[in-house]
Amino acid sequence: MLHFMIWLIFLLEFTIGNAIFVTEISRHGARAPTKLYPFDIAFWDPNLLGELTPTGMRQHYLIGHEFRRRYTQVTPLLSEIYNSSEIYVQATSSDRTIMSAWSQMLGLYPLGTGPNVTLLNTAPPMNISAYTASIQNALGKAALTNSMQVIPINVIQGPKDHVLHGYDSDSCARISQISATLKNSTVYLNNQQYWANGILKTISEVLGVKISTISSASNIHTALECDLYNGNPWKTGMNETLFEQLAQIHGFSKFYVPFSDAEARNLSCSAFFQELIGNIKQAFNGGDLKFAYYSAHDTTLAAFLSCLDLAQDYNPPFASTLVFEAYQNATVGLIYNDVLTEIPSCSNIYCPVDEFYEILNSAYVPDLETACKLQ
Ligand SMILES: *[C@@H]1O[C@H](CO)[C@@H](O)[C@H](O)[C@H]1NC(C)=O
Ligand SMILES: *[C@@H]1O[C@H](CO)[C@@H](O)[C@H](O)[C@H]1NC(C)=O
Ligand SMILES: *[C@@H]1O[C@H](CO)[C@@H](O)[C@H](O)[C@H]1NC(C)=O
Ligand SMILES: *[C@@H]1O[C@H](CO)[C@@H](O)[C@H](O)[C@H]1NC(C)=O
Ligand SMILES: *[C@@H]1O[C@H](CO)[C@@H](O)[C@H](O)[C@H]1NC(C)=O
Ligand SMILES: *[C@@H]1O[C@H](CO)[C@@H](O)[C@H](O)[C@H]1NC(C)=O
Ligand SMILES: *[C@@H]1O[C@H](CO)[C@@H](O)[C@H](O)[C@H]1NC(C)=O
Repeated sequence: MLHFMIWLIFLLEFTIGNAIFVTEISRHGARAPTKLYPFDIAFWDPNLLGELTPTGMRQHYLIGHEFRRRYTQVTPLLSEIYNSSEIYVQATSSDRTIMSAWSQMLGLYPLGTGPNVTLLNTAPPMNISAYTASIQNALGKAALTNSMQVIPINVIQGPKDHVLHGYDSDSCARISQISATLKNSTVYLNNQQYWANGILKTISEVLGVKISTISSASNIHTALECDLYNGNPWKTGMNETLFEQLAQIHGFSKFYVPFSDAEARNLSCSAFFQELIGNIKQAFNGGDLKFAYYSAHDTTLAAFLSCLDLAQDYNPPFASTLVFEAYQNATVGLIYNDVLTEIPSCSNIYCPVDEFYEILNSAYVPDLETACKLQ
């Protein structure tokens, strides 16, 4: 095992050795549930539903810290001090993705790396009390406390966000039709009936909640996952075996609806893939942008994986990462949750960049606004 780990670390260090551009898409870290059930209502503040938890912050901080080592030290892709030309950060318009991005950036540019002021006594157009003036002495030259670096996080509102929310019926109404058709398919309905008459009966009894649809099983799986990451005990009788069954149902649901449909895949991936092609091309042309980071959702990752023919058995866990590294030698590596992963339609695990563009272009939708209209 240890040898394997050393080999794996060596492999990863080797792959990032000559990266000239990196894109990361992540799922937000652990969060509070968005809906409460009788079995978990005691554990959560009803005012904080859906919010990133301290555990979720920590997850993203650690990713940032590790990326600082990989991308400023192992390979000097990024400066150790924030340089706005090198980095672009975008989050979906929800608290948990914005806070995840912020947490990760604090790991990438930790306290102590922020800028200094050139004038010690600058003040805003407001009278500063003695109470506030004292902070200036404490700050010294540091612009912000503890020499913190603030990073701009771009946010695009849901209905306009085809890049990270392309799968969402808010931004693409057509997807809701495709999803409805898939949820009425024989495969889906048969699975649903099989589970409803079997394992979901057991889990309903254990949890004291009626669970008879794939959607509700997926929601329950997420609720239990939120508890797991927050150290909340499960109800007596709930165990790993039952949780695993729910995980499989959730995994099926996430990748089947809507991403088993080619049109839905195109609609969900087109905008992001075009942006990725543009960013990689600018890097090969000597452009300044080295790292583009997108803070998004499990469904965003599921979409991009599906479009690359890499549908998974399980829903991407909290703080999952999908990383594309473009190398000097005109290849691209795809790393899902830290595992270098072959794109099946590419000739090599280090995918030649022209082939890679072709694969991304196979999801191209020329006019998303029209294609997303209800049919
Ligand atoms: C390209 O670079 C990657 C990352 O360093 C390396 O693993 C791969 O073998 C190289 N591929 C070619 C064709 O040189
Ligand atoms: C800010 O000033 C401190 C103390 O002089 C110095 O150590 C640090 O490198 C400076 N930071 C930057 C970003 O220049
Ligand atoms: C700020 O303080 C100065 C001097 O005491 C005073 O003249 C001025 O009106 C104050 N401004 C505001 C916005 O309170
Ligand atoms: C579901 O499919 C059945 C036949 O397969 C069809 O009669 C029904 O209208 C469909 N319902 C929806 C909501 O699409
Ligand atoms: C989990 O619970 C189910 C249902 O009560 C039971 O059949 C199974 O043996 C339990 N598994 C473990 C590992 O405890
Ligand atoms: C997906 O996009 C590709 C590239 O534009 C196109 O050839 C293909 O027909 C599209 N598939 C569907 C089902 O819309
Ligand atoms: C920031 O990065 C750009 C692009 O690499 C470079 O041209 C510029 O000099 C850097 N700025 C600083 C202050 O290092």
